Amino acid sequence: MKPTILAFETSCDETAVAVVRGTEILSNVLSSQVDLHSRFGGVVPEVAARAHVESIRSLTHRALVEAGIHPDDLDAVAATEGPGLVGALLVGHAFAKATAWARQLPFVGIDHMEGHLFSPLLEHPEYAPPAVVLLASGGHSQLVHVRDWGDYEVLGETIDDAAGEAFDKLARVMGLGFPGGPAIDAASDGGDPTTVMFPRALADRRHHFSFSGLKTSVLTYLDKSKKNGELAPLRDVAASIQEAIVDVLVAKTINACEDTGATVIGAGGGVLANRRLRQKLAEAAGNRGITLCLPSPQLCTDNGAMIGAAAVHWLEEGAISAWDSGVDPGKRLGA
Ligand code: KG4
Ligand code: ZN
Repeated sequence: MKPTILAFETSCDETAVAVVRGTEILSNVLSSQVDLHSRFGGVVPEVAARAHVESIRSLTHRALVEAGIHPDDLDAVAATEGPGLVGALLVGHAFAKATAWARQLPFVGIDHMEGHLFSPLLEHPEYAPPAVVLLASGGHSQLVHVRDWGDYEVLGETIDDAAGEAFDKLARVMGLGFPGGPAIDAASDGGDPTTVMFPRALADRRHHFSFSGLKTSVLTYLDKSKKNGELAPLRDVAASIQEAIVDVLVAKTINACEDTGATVIGAGGGVLANRRLRQKLAEAAGNRGITLCLPSPQLCTDNGAMIGAAAVHWLEEGAISAWDSGVDPGKRLGA
């Protein structure tokens, strides 16, 4: 039987706990801190760490009860070890290690981005290497060539802001609140994405991203058009901004498939919850006969099940973490 794993994710502002058995999700619960951070317009690290401490015990209980699993039935405990906010990471990592120690179970530390990379496996049995994986979250945007599980070539990444960060910053500029991705996604409803042609950066670099220029361009547009009295309706501006980010993410993912010959695309990270991105990725993959393995929106944003999925792989490989292993806030995939 596939191993049953209790998995924790506390790298940022969600306390997330899951029980997985192989690729089957037995429970996947989380406590979002969005309300705590929204009045500050972003995640406050100290507030995040304290909120993790407050909710992790009861969430763990809930995850086990919902899964119908007694701790004696577990085969291992896993937790995110980085990248992320150090205080936030430490809470989940220490709690998971203590739980594993008390139960005499193996502990497996997991790379957060590798968790996102594994997340499609929870719903797509056809997801298998070699694959190109688009990872786009609040802190990272990467295109990864997965030659095999654990064998990653990072083909490209952002040279400035991550895609989620761009959504968050642009939503702030537009006065749409935090977190920005879902706000722009919602504000774009019924908008015309061809209203303003914002720049698609780094067209000459096939796998790298740049999003900081877009912010300047949006600020310039808002400034000028307000002065001229020609400001387009909010939904059209939001849809145009969203389109500029989505177009680049899709184009570079397809470039990566062409250059590696991969016929499978995987994807993960909060930005993949974006409806327009999901639609355009599906169209681009479909037109080329590429198999797209896209997690459901709730498995794109941070969750414990993805950490469990990655941990199943590493446990089966015998890659158990040492009791004195620590967190690594600057951890880089493939490094
Ligand atoms: O993976 P994630 O949940 O946390 C990190 O590891 O960072 O990603 C969070 C990011 C945020 O920047 C958020 O604005 C973005 O994902 N995001 C979205 C959407 N939902 C979340 N971006 C665009 N459209 C969405 N619907
Ligand atoms: Zn994430």
